[in-house]
Amino acid sequence: MTAARHRNTARALALALSMGGAGHAASCARSAPDPQSAPALTGLTSAQMASANVLDARNQKGSGVPDFGFMVTPAEYAATYSDEPVFRLKIDFPKVKPAQLPAFIERIDFKTNPLEYLLAARDYSFDGNLPHWNPFENQTAQWYHIPWLHPTTTGPNAYPPNGGTEGFRGLIKEAPLSPLQLGAGQQGKEGGYSVYAITLVNDFAGYTLGRMWADPDNPDPRVTDIRYGGGFPHGTVFAKLLFTDAPQGQDELPWLENPLQWKAYITENFWTSSTRQVTAVNLLQMDIAVRDARADGPGQTGWVFGTFAYNGQVNNPNKFLNLVPVGVMWGNDPDDTTNTTNPFPPTETKVNPNLKETVIFPSKELPPQHLGWNGRLNGPADLNTTSCLSCHITAQYPSVTSLVPVGAVPDGGPTPPAQGGSAEWMRWFQNVPAATSFDDRTYSTDYSFQVAISLQNFFDVNAARLQGAWAIDYVLPPRVPIARGRKER
Ligand code: HEC
Repeated sequence: MTAARHRNTARALALALSMGGAGHAASCARSAPDPQSAPALTGLTSAQMASANVLDARNQKGSGVPDFGFMVTPAEYAATYSDEPVFRLKIDFPKVKPAQLPAFIERIDFKTNPLEYLLAARDYSFDGNLPHWNPFENQTAQWYHIPWLHPTTTGPNAYPPNGGTEGFRGLIKEAPLSPLQLGAGQQGKEGGYSVYAITLVNDFAGYTLGRMWADPDNPDPRVTDIRYGGGFPHGTVFAKLLFTDAPQGQDELPWLENPLQWKAYITENFWTSSTRQVTAVNLLQMDIAVRDARADGPGQTGWVFGTFAYNGQVNNPNKFLNLVPVGVMWGNDPDDTTNTTNPFPPTETKVNPNLKETVIFPSKELPPQHLGWNGRLNGPADLNTTSCLSCHITAQYPSVTSLVPVGAVPDGGPTPPAQGGSAEWMRWFQNVPAATSFDDRTYSTDYSFQVAISLQNFFDVNAARLQGAWAIDYVLPPRVPIARGRKER
C-alpha cells in the first residue's frame, strides 16, 4: 500500500466516524480544536459547528505525515474491527522547552537508588497514558510520537523486511526472536516470531523533535548533534512497549500466560512473509531511556536506560504492573573485557557483581533473564551479546556504523563469541557522550534509533519523489541497515 492510499484511508475513516460511526476511536478524540489555526466559523448552526469540531479533532491539521503504513481496509475495519482503536500520530510538538524537570529525576539519584528511579520513571510514563497508550487521551501530561516511522525500507538489505508501522496501535516492526530466546518452551516457528514496539516521548523530547521537524519538508539532523549545540535536553524521557506474536502452536511460555494482549496488523512471520494479518500480540517488555544530568561527565554517556520484563504470574489486576523491573544501566563498563554470556534458553538470571554501571534487580517475580554481554543490561527481546547502551551509542544519520560488533550475531549460543573482549569488540562498549556521533562523518541522533530511522525514511522517500540522489551518499561509507544484528534465518 502506498502512503497516499493510507492518507485517504485515514480521511475516509475520520469522515465515517464524524458521521456517527461508533467505536473506540470515537471516544479517543478528545483534544479541543486549536482556535489559533482553525478558520473562523460563522453563520453555522451549532450542529454544524459541533460536527466540524469532531472532524477537526481527528485531523492532522496539515501536519502532512501519514499516521501509519499498513492497515486493513476501511471496509474491513468497519465490518470486523470497529471496537479496536485506529492509531493517530501525535506530533503537535511544544515550541518552548518545558520549565520543570520530571519530579522523579530531581528527587531520585539513579546511582544510589536505581530501583526506585526505574519504578518512578515507569509511573511517570504510565501517568495519563494508560490503559490505551494513547497520548491524545492523556489529561495530565504531554506525550508525543516520532513521525516518519510508517514506511518500510526497501531493497535487498531492507531491515526489517516488510517493516514500518501498523494502523491499530502504531506498532513498528522491530526484530526477530531467536528460538529459545524467551525460554525452553519457545521452539520458534517457520520464518520466526517478531517483536513490534510503540514508543512515546515526553515534552522535553517533543521540544527537540519540534525543532528537528519545524519545516516538515526539510528536517534538520543537526538538532540532535552536539557540534551544532544540539541534543535532547535533560529531562527527556522515552518509554517504549514491546509486543510479540510468541507463543503460538505447541510453544508455551509461562511468563506470557495471562497476557496483556493487543490486536495488531502484522506480518505472518519475521523474515519471509510480506502478508499482514490481524494477530494477537502479547506485551513482553518495556524500555525506558532518560536524559539525566547526573549521568553527564568525562567518560560518561548522559543517559540512563532501564528495562522491565512481563510476568503474567504476578497477576496484578492492572496488567501493566505485571512488568517486573530487570535493571538499569548508565554506562558500558568500558574497562571490563571479561567474555561471558548466558546462553538461550535462560534458566537463571546471572548477576555480574563486578559491573559498576549496570544494576540488575533479581527477584522471585523476575523471569530468568539472559541479560546482555557479561551481564550488562539487555531485555528479553535483546541480544545476549550486547547491551542497551552498546547498541544505542551507534545511533546516527545516515547510518554507516553497524549496531553490533562482528561476532555478536547469531546470539544465544552455548559459548560466548570468539571476538568478545577484543579491542575491536570493545569499541561497541565505549561510553560515548550524549549527542556525539560514533562516526564523526555522520550526525548523532543522540542515542535515538527511531530518530535515525525517521530521517532515513524521510530522505529516502523524498529522494524517490524528487527523482534524484544526495551527494552525501558518495562521500560516506556505504549505509548499513539499522538492524539489531542480522540473525540467521
Ligand atoms: C542491538 C541493538 C539494540 C539493543 C541491544 C537495544 N536497542 Fe533499543 N532500539 C534499537 C533500535 C534499532 C531501536 C529503534 C527501532 C524501533 O523502535 O523501531 C530502538 C529503540 C529504542 C527506544 C525508543 C527510542 C529510540 O528512538 O531509540 C528505547 C527507549 C530503547 N530502544 C531502549 C532500549 C533499552 C532500555 C535497551 C536494553 C534493555 C535497548 N534499547 C537495547 C536497538 C537496540
